[in-house]
Amino acid sequence: MSLPPWNEHPQAPDPGTIICFESAIPKVGGLEFTFGSGNKPFRGFLLKKDGEILAYLNACTHFTGTPLNPNGIGNFLDPKDPSLIYCGVHGSRFLAATGACVSGECDGEGLQPIPVKTEGGKVIISS
Ligand code: FES
Repeated sequence: MSLPPWNEHPQAPDPGTIICFESAIPKVGGLEFTFGSGNKPFRGFLLKKDGEILAYLNACTHFTGTPLNPNGIGNFLDPKDPSLIYCGVHGSRFLAATGACVSGECDGEGLQPIPVKTEGGKVIISS
């Protein structure tokens, strides 16, 4: 199931918004971030991969955007293969480097990347 583009979420951060300090991202696993409030805040997560910082919408392509870390459990990576992002709801797997679906119920669709850049040790939404 296709999701709307990340920047069409009603609470999506604008380009230039600071997410966090780069140092807050763990060496292994992801860091969730949210913007907005209420029942449906904007949810994303950051990963470090081969020295690069990657960001994805925290929305599984299976089940209309359910977060990949139900109840905040899990670090977004497959415990058996940390090169893969893992959805803790039904076990879909995605390449960490691209977000492409590789197995499970993700219907061949990938996670949505969120453009980010770093400046002065901060991770910032890019355009
Ligand atoms: S909600 Fe992610 S695999 Fe089902």
